[in-house]
Formats: sequence, structure tokens, C-alpha cells
Amino acid sequence: MGKVYIVGAGPGDPELLTVRAVKILKEADVVLYDRLINEDILSLTRPGCLHIYVGKEDGKHTIPQEEINRLLLYYASLYEKVVRLKGGDPFIFGRGGEEVLFLADQGVPFEVVPGISSFYSVPAYAGIPLTLRGVSSSFAVVTGHEATGKEKKVNWEAFRGVDTLVVLMGVRNRQRIAGDLIKAGRDPDEPVAFVERGTTEDQRTVITTLREVAENPPEVKPPAVMVVGRVVEVHGRVKEFLENLKVLEGTGHAGG
Ligand SMILES: C[S@@+](CC[C@H](N)C(=O)[O-])C[C@H]1O[C@@H](n2cnc3c(N)ncnc32)[C@H](O)[C@@H]1O
Repeated sequence: MGKVYIVGAGPGDPELLTVRAVKILKEADVVLYDRLINEDILSLTRPGCLHIYVGKEDGKHTIPQEEINRLLLYYASLYEKVVRLKGGDPFIFGRGGEEVLFLADQGVPFEVVPGISSFYSVPAYAGIPLTLRGVSSSFAVVTGHEATGKEKKVNWEAFRGVDTLVVLMGVRNRQRIAGDLIKAGRDPDEPVAFVERGTTEDQRTVITTLREVAENPPEVKPPAVMVVGRVVEVHGRVKEFLENLKVLEGTGHAGG
């Protein structure tokens, strides 16, 4: 029986892979990867390494989780190093928890390699800090993918007192989420940022308010991170600086 590595690929920019992730990818026999994985990251593998797409469309699961688990078991019985490569961090809304429970139950050796999560790195590339002295001393990360089946329903009221709220998978339900947050007592004039395809060359940032999102939601395409809170105002103040940096250094990222 081989070993399964549950590896976080980071938010998109290949330079945000960890050193450990690069090392494991270079030695992999098989990589089972998700939808948001950058081609440049897959190209780090050695010739002959199998690349198997097990991605999920937004909300829908093209391959059921049980089938992905079965594939992990199958490839671990054939190969020494099986990599399960996931966007961001495997344990942040990535179903990595379910996969390690399954592997442990089946007695398959595994290792988890944490990745840089989109929830803070994507706002960071857009010049939005999640905490800021005097402005935000707390943040919460929540799914905007509404509870269906086994998922736990989000209690939006519980987030009334959190300074910065980060919503992942929230694009489709953005209008209802903004409405629920206003109903739960958040200020309708509170700024909101959507950062689309963060850390990639296609990064785009949309700045608006909770009221606007509830009444007349802006065009936003997934994947995007939604940030609600006063920290969003920092984006406008550092945007020009980030853009200059992009031009000067060719870093490939800016405030959108
Ligand atoms: C299923 S969750 C997985 C999160 C991932 N495990 C992480 O730690 O970043 C997918 C959601 O993460 C966010 N996301 C991931 N990569 C992103 C990116 N490059 N730009 C914007 N949002 C991203 C979006 O909200 C997307 O709907």
C-alpha cells in the first residue's frame, strides 16, 4: 500500500506553493486534482506521472466524494506516492477532513500538507488586510454555499459582531447573503469587496456596499472571495501603490 498526500496547492499563483508541496509533487506517481488547480503547478510533476481530474463544478459535484475516496484507495494500492491536490488549504472548505477520515478508516497511510488558503491570501493580493488596528480585531470565514443535505446551515445572526466577514463560495447567493446580513443587524453601508480569480493574472476586484449587493448585485464570476467590513476601505488607499508595484516588478498581482 502506498501513501496518500493531501496537499494544499494555494490560491492559484504557483509561487504560493509551499516548499513541501513542490517536493512531494516532484516525486508523485499520480496526482488527483481539483478544478481550480493551475496548469503550471501540475507541470512540476515528473514525466510519466498520471494526472487525474476529479474536479467539481460550482456547487455540483461532477464526481461524488465517495468515488474520489474509492479512487484514492485504488491508486494507493497500485502506486507509492499518490497526491490529492486541492485548491488553497485542504482543511478549509476542501473536504480534506472527510478524505483523511476515510483513509484512516481504511488503514491507508497519509500525510496532510497545508496550503495557503484563499480566504486571507486573495484579499491580501487585493490590498485588503483581514485585521487592522483600530478597525478590525476579529474575523470569521463562512461558506456562502447554502445548506443542502448534510451541510450545516449558516446562522448569519451569529456574525453580527464580527468585524470582518469573509465568505467563500458566496457568488451565487450574494444577494440573499447581503440581505440576511442586513437583517441580522449589519450596517447596510458597510463596504464589500469581491475578489475574483485572486492571485492569478485575471484577478479583478469589485468594491461595493452591503445595500448595493442586496438591492442590485454587481456582476461577479466565481471563484471569488467576498469580504465584508471596514477593512475593505484599505483597498482604495493602497490600490495605486499595488498597481505601481506590478508595473515596476512585474509581480503579476495588483489591487484588481
Ligand atoms: C471549495 S472552496 C475551497 C477553499 C480552499 N480550500 C481554500 O483554502 O482556499 C472554493 C472557494 O474558495 C474561494 N477561492 C478559491 N480560490 C480562489 C481564488 N483564486 N480567487 C478567489 N476565490 C477563490 C472561492 O470563494 C471559491 O468558491
